[in-house]
Amino acid sequence: MKAVILVGGEGTRLRPLTCNIPKAMVPILNRPFLEHLVRYLEKHGVRDIILAMGYLPDPIQSRLGDGAEFGVRMTYMVEESLLGTAGAVKNAESLLDEPFIVFNGDILTEIDLTAIMRRHQEIKPKASIALTPVDNPTIYGVVETDARGMVKHFVEKPSWDEVTTNMINAGIYILETEVLAHIPASVPCMFENYLFPRLLDLGEPILSYPSNAYWIDIGTPEKYLQVHHDLLLRYGDEYIRTEGESQIHPAAEIEGPVLIAEGCAIAEDAKIKGPAVFGPRCRVDNGAIVEGGVLWDGVSVGKMAELNNCVVGTGSNIQEKCHIPEGCVLGDNVRVESGLKMANATRVEPDTYLG
Ligand code: GDD
Ligand code: MG
Repeated sequence: MKAVILVGGEGTRLRPLTCNIPKAMVPILNRPFLEHLVRYLEKHGVRDIILAMGYLPDPIQSRLGDGAEFGVRMTYMVEESLLGTAGAVKNAESLLDEPFIVFNGDILTEIDLTAIMRRHQEIKPKASIALTPVDNPTIYGVVETDARGMVKHFVEKPSWDEVTTNMINAGIYILETEVLAHIPASVPCMFENYLFPRLLDLGEPILSYPSNAYWIDIGTPEKYLQVHHDLLLRYGDEYIRTEGESQIHPAAEIEGPVLIAEGCAIAEDAKIKGPAVFGPRCRVDNGAIVEGGVLWDGVSVGKMAELNNCVVGTGSNIQEKCHIPEGCVLGDNVRVESGLKMANATRVEPDTYLG
């Protein structure tokens, strides 16, 4: 089957991390998110991938190219103005002549896609939709099903009194090409509050595929940190992995799980506690503490500075004795002047000078 990946959204909830790159390119364990998704699709035998792009398409296309590096074939579609999730797929209609997969471009999962495809082929509904259980359904699309697993009702971003189940739309569909006829061309249109409810009104069968496999939408800073925790904690606190050459002083105190890209410099008396990720060319000076968090490329942490479970964008410079507490998110090229203490969960736009 071919897959359409929806990567056109502006990633507003992930700002300031998505000011300079689209959500699909934010690094997860030092690799762009889309690389993980493309490898997952390839593993399930999906080798023809259409990327439906809108916001900041260039970084995606220049990183993935024709897809040969990943054993897949990439086709790119760019929307001049955003067409919504269903409108984006309608825009690719000329490329779709058989049942195909749609994937939200911000889902990291281990759901058994092969099994979903198999069930779709066996039962032949008009659409299959993967479901996953969550604690807070109000920030997703709730999907009610009957005893046979056929979808009865959709509510996108319900209020708590509309929540009847914790099973939500996992953002993975298999669609028959004929459903495309119900999507208007060249105008914004969503699967969630237009196409799926419309198919149900028309009495068309939509099959659910509930799964308890790992699933996360990486679209907020909290979830972005969460996915790193989830993936790294599988390795335990002995895990200290370096990717390429770095200068790590033997007296630096490092407790895993920690991933360190090439070209980093970790000084004497620096303290690092996982789960933490260092992108290429990061520097942690004497006496600095990094307790959890994700640092992108070329971040420097000055002497005696302390970071607790933060995300820091490319090229940012945290000077000595600063304190960047729990949940702060700094965009690219932020400079934090010596001694500054920030409040929890502060978000800082790129290129800001804080002094
Ligand atoms: N090409 C294109 N054009 N892509 C778009 C557009 C568009 O106009 N709008 C959104 N996308 C992409 C986003 O980039 C993202 O990868 C995906 O579609 C989903 O958009 P989000 O903005 O992340 O939606 P959400 O997370 O609030 O809700 C969706 O996902 C949930 C699961 O994470 C819905 O499908 C929910 O029903 C679902 O539960
Ligand atoms: Mg999302």
